[in-house]
Amino acid sequence: MMKTLALVSLICLTASTVGVLGVKVGQQQPQGLQKHLVCYYDSSSFVKEGLGKLVIDELEPALQFCDYLIYGYAGIERESHKAVSLNQQLDLDLGKGLYRTVTRLKRKYPNLRILLSVGGDKDIETGEDAKDLPNKYLELLENATGRTRFVNTVFSLVKTYGFDGLDIAWQFPKNKPKKVHSGIGSIWKGFKKVFSGDSIVDEKSEEHKEQFTALLRDIKNALRPDNLLLSTTVLPNVNSSLFYDVPAVINYLDFVNLAAFDFFTPQRNPEVADYTAPIYELSERNPEFNVDAQVKYWLRHSCPASKINVGVATYGRPWKLSDDSGETGLPPVSHVVDEAPVGGNTQLHGIYSWPETCALLPNQNNAYAKGANAPLTKVQDPAKRFGTYAYRAADKKGNNGIWVSFEDPDTAADKAGYVKNNNLGGIALFDLSYDDFRGLCTNDKYPILRAVKYRLVN
Ligand SMILES: *[C@@H]1O[C@H](CO)[C@@H](O)[C@H](O)[C@H]1NC(C)=O
Ligand SMILES: *[C@@H]1O[C@H](CO)[C@@H](O)[C@H](O)[C@H]1NC(C)=O
Repeated sequence: MMKTLALVSLICLTASTVGVLGVKVGQQQPQGLQKHLVCYYDSSSFVKEGLGKLVIDELEPALQFCDYLIYGYAGIERESHKAVSLNQQLDLDLGKGLYRTVTRLKRKYPNLRILLSVGGDKDIETGEDAKDLPNKYLELLENATGRTRFVNTVFSLVKTYGFDGLDIAWQFPKNKPKKVHSGIGSIWKGFKKVFSGDSIVDEKSEEHKEQFTALLRDIKNALRPDNLLLSTTVLPNVNSSLFYDVPAVINYLDFVNLAAFDFFTPQRNPEVADYTAPIYELSERNPEFNVDAQVKYWLRHSCPASKINVGVATYGRPWKLSDDSGETGLPPVSHVVDEAPVGGNTQLHGIYSWPETCALLPNQNNAYAKGANAPLTKVQDPAKRFGTYAYRAADKKGNNGIWVSFEDPDTAADKAGYVKNNNLGGIALFDLSYDDFRGLCTNDKYPILRAVKYRLVN
């Protein structure tokens, strides 16, 4: 199996060096060598309170490193199928709306291309019956009139506010998390026997795949006369083989951003903690839950290597350890719960920004601290295959245990190295608001972004 994969990717790499090129302007290196850095800015961080708030002045120091800025996220309106801003006051308000403020940054950073993104798992309806509503992204695909409506309205948003193009981060249904039924002794037995992750994700996935191809074709046709860019973001735990007809859609796309992370999260996997975004297969236990498998899938289906951007999260995923989770922290860790303390900056459950994780690692402030403030032990991966984690075993009363799988500047740079070794297009960073944009950790602003950029160009 591995042999075939390697062979196919080799052919694909050869093809891509002569083949389709990215869209970078003004480059000096020979074409194909230049790697792209795609930066996501989730504007919901603009309206946060406290240290997690990222406003445009603080976004700017990042922009010298980015080739593309993807502004997220717009959404779609149920029933009318229109593309809409998810926060009109923030995005559109006359004179001071962020859409225009952001696209005006091109005057200062003329090489930066700015795209508007739709979906991104941020177009979430709230309210009592929200979770019983059908997926509006699938409903839109099924309705030809709706698709046209979407194409027209999304084109108008892009054009009106001066974006350089569009990113489609379509909210397809996700793989069901694999369930672990413990209670039969070792966790390994649990893994071998009772994984049942293959329940059907979408019975009409074949139709939806075709309709999505038609949608991207129509969007590209709308954007083409103005030379506007089109990219797609494959969201975490969306199965490309179900929804992306790669050989067909790749013709319409300038590049694809594979959000190849969050394979394990406390929300999806409340009972087992594991590496959230390894580069390579950890073991036979989850052959598809790694960057390499996702990349190979696209390569194997005739995607030019130069169009693939590997998604790197700037955040970590924390679980709470119990007194049954053991002392070693060695993943997979069982008897965990989705109850790690909420980070003070992000104020979100189940996610730590890089500065939040950094503050938990050994440093001057926590060297002698005990209990809930004691530093975590950091465990690196010298082979650079799986990533880094840090943990603090629970005390005898079952308190203060934490296990975090995270990306730091070094591991993110390893992924940039993977991109270079495989001659891929570049890195897509999710997102700037979870990097250390204030320089709280080492006084360097945007350390993950910088580390990735440095590794891509050197
Ligand atoms: C398709 O969508 C349009 C609006 O975009 C709506 O008027 C029409 O009723 C929808 N058709 C079906 C079959 O749902
Ligand atoms: C993705 O779908 C294919 C079938 O199209 C299936 O073989 C594969 O196991 C799925 N991957 C995951 C991670 O569920």
